[in-house]
Amino acid sequence: MNAPGKEGEFFQEIIESLRACEEESPASYVSKEVLLEFYRPAPKHAAKAVQKAANVPVGRSVPLPSPAPAGTTADRTLSVRPEEMDFPELKSAVAICSRCPLCRTRTNTVFGDGNEKAELMFVGEGPGADEDAQGLPFVGKAGELLTKMILAMGFARKEVYIGNIVKCRPPNNRTPEEEEIAACLPYIKRQIALIRPKAIVLLGATPLRGLFDLTGITRLRGKFLEYDGIPAMPTFHPAYLLRNPSAKADVWKDLQQVMKLLGKTPAPPRQKRS
Ligand code: URA
Repeated sequence: MNAPGKEGEFFQEIIESLRACEEESPASYVSKEVLLEFYRPAPKHAAKAVQKAANVPVGRSVPLPSPAPAGTTADRTLSVRPEEMDFPELKSAVAICSRCPLCRTRTNTVFGDGNEKAELMFVGEGPGADEDAQGLPFVGKAGELLTKMILAMGFARKEVYIGNIVKCRPPNNRTPEEEEIAACLPYIKRQIALIRPKAIVLLGATPLRGLFDLTGITRLRGKFLEYDGIPAMPTFHPAYLLRNPSAKADVWKDLQQVMKLLGKTPAPPRQKRS
């Protein structure tokens, strides 16, 4: 059962964000600053500059994950392509993956979590520090907000499936590079193919780029796309909402479209005590 009242918190936040936005700019929910920040393209070499500034060694030589013992499920991951794997095989393949340099700096891979028969799937960008430490997706601050969004939609967190475009944490939480996304993409594609959800929610710009090769989350959010015959709704990432709470109203509109598609009614907002 859902934690009582939790789903109401997201509604409360939406109401507050609507009020704040109305005062600020009656015609638009998203402020000009927010839009500008979103449209500004990430500089190509920003990631390396961030690494350098934070003194994170670039291309540091650390041992690669050990190969799987012969005859195990993980061993099959060496000879079978992700497109042919079942869930346990895919999970083992991710656990020992060394397809890109992110494997050198990760603590844990973050495969994904939830109901493997879910009708609703969320796809995020990639693990942050908390997820890297725990090996689970969306367990930090952004995860708390995502859980509220899921509850507000009338689902329990364990009913849905949550995955990411990249399975290893990019150093300093930078955006994953093109090559890292390309190396990891077969995993999320196989997860989607195995789950076959009725709807996908794309959280932020990275899943939009990875699964559709599209840019412009602010322009594209709120409009269903189709991924392999599955309706996919791009919306803002919860981490973005933490920095820009006024965008919560837009996200709620996007999620309501998904709920309509799935025949879900929203969890009732909490009544104010008089
Ligand atoms: N942000 C993501 O995109 N994914 C996570 O798992 C956590 C934060």
